[in-house]
Amino acid sequence: MKNKVITNLLIERIASEGKCVGHHEGKVVFVSGVAPGDVVDVRITKGKSSFMEGEAIRFHEYSKDRIEPFCSHFGTCGGCKWQHINYDLQKTYKRQQVVDQFERIAKVPTPEVAPTLGSKQIQYYRNKLDFTFSNKKWLTLDQIRSEAEFDRNALGFHIPKMFDKIIDIEHCYLQGGISNEVRNALREFALAGKFSFYDIREQVGLLRNLIIRTTSTGQTMVIVQFGENDPESIKVVMEFLKDRFPEITSLLYVINTKGNETFHDLELVTYAGLPYIEEEMEGLKFRVGPKSFYQTNSEQAYELYKVARDFAQLKGDEVVYDLYTGTGTIANFVAKQAKQVIGVEYVEAAIEDAKLNSQINGIENTLFYAGDMKDILNEEFISNHAKPDVIITDPPRAGMDEKVVQMLLRLEAPTIVYVSCNPATQARDLALLGEKYQVEKVQPVDMFPQTYHVENVVRLTLKS
Ligand SMILES: C[S@@+](CC[C@H](N)C(=O)[O-])C[C@H]1O[C@@H](n2cnc3c(N)ncnc32)[C@H](O)[C@@H]1O
Repeated sequence: MKNKVITNLLIERIASEGKCVGHHEGKVVFVSGVAPGDVVDVRITKGKSSFMEGEAIRFHEYSKDRIEPFCSHFGTCGGCKWQHINYDLQKTYKRQQVVDQFERIAKVPTPEVAPTLGSKQIQYYRNKLDFTFSNKKWLTLDQIRSEAEFDRNALGFHIPKMFDKIIDIEHCYLQGGISNEVRNALREFALAGKFSFYDIREQVGLLRNLIIRTTSTGQTMVIVQFGENDPESIKVVMEFLKDRFPEITSLLYVINTKGNETFHDLELVTYAGLPYIEEEMEGLKFRVGPKSFYQTNSEQAYELYKVARDFAQLKGDEVVYDLYTGTGTIANFVAKQAKQVIGVEYVEAAIEDAKLNSQINGIENTLFYAGDMKDILNEEFISNHAKPDVIITDPPRAGMDEKVVQMLLRLEAPTIVYVSCNPATQARDLALLGEKYQVEKVQPVDMFPQTYHVENVVRLTLKS
């Protein structure tokens, strides 16, 4: 089937993970870069016995629901795949993904899934972006055909599925504040000063990575990763950022000569300002260090947490377990409405942040533990702590380990609030929880406009 062309394929719908789907001779065909309602010729790139994958090579009809993408990088950059679909429809498709996964996988009685709670900001909603320096700029087909000479240094995002190619970003609509100015000014400065951009294959080059974090309170953290330990050049670059952008409240750098870009195990240097920024929610302060996790859409994180808190229906005398607590944001957010909140999380540094966040907000009824959920949430843990009245669980994309689900079934907390960033694994876990729990409410929340991602909150109650 590979390379075969299917003509006049109607794109019928969007399936899980944002894949557009049509049917040909009874087989499902997944097509990238299209929208439901398009009619296209498709070149097959992968053919299996039950499905095919392909790319559109000719459009016969464009869907009436298409809109003009607002970003000049759309189509090449992998960041915002749904810019060509209007926002109301994006929300509809997100809800539909939840409905489909629940019907296909959970197979438990479910009430009407609520309409997706949309994000007020559908551009400039991210508080963190990660840009890569590279001497392997991605060139478009037109640029290659022009046979002109191009500077191959770039600062931007990885091209999907090509680890060494970087698209040079001129303007990104995902992050507001001074993000675009900082990135472009640093690139110009580096090019003018002939500082080397990182070569990912050879693993050499001074400038490696740039992380910009912003807050709703107007603070900005900038972290520069250097691939070489060259104190003189590092000073010149950092002085430039410090002088040019006095708005940066936390300016840091790290020297990273390892094979990968992660810096959890490296020491960061605070060059100017504070070693953290602070986010705020209902008067609570959350300290965010360079290694801390914080939900990337701050404003919508507040909406998500309000849904979780509503679903928990706390009266003030409950013991709440906040599983996969991260930096304890949900735990601290609901602490005022509960007797005690116990947060559990894998990453030790996150647990330190969670404790610190309780401390700086004067919250005294939280306890936090670091460890793998399936090991830590055992009989001994339960006998050493009060039994939960409410469990809030917010696992990673893989969902909960079956051992953890079995523990929840043994614990029999009257209420479980399940927050998930992957409705497929959530549905799988709900199928197991269905033995003792019924689904009472389902609320999809959009944290990432212009992408297929959907967050979903479910309220479960113990069957009587
Ligand atoms: C979706 S995040 C939760 C974020 C947090 N509730 C918040 O809103 O900021 C999932 C968290 O689960 C943690 N995690 C992943 N696997 C884990 C495991 N096996 N045991 C405990 N925590 C785990 C991750 O480190 C991450 O912080």
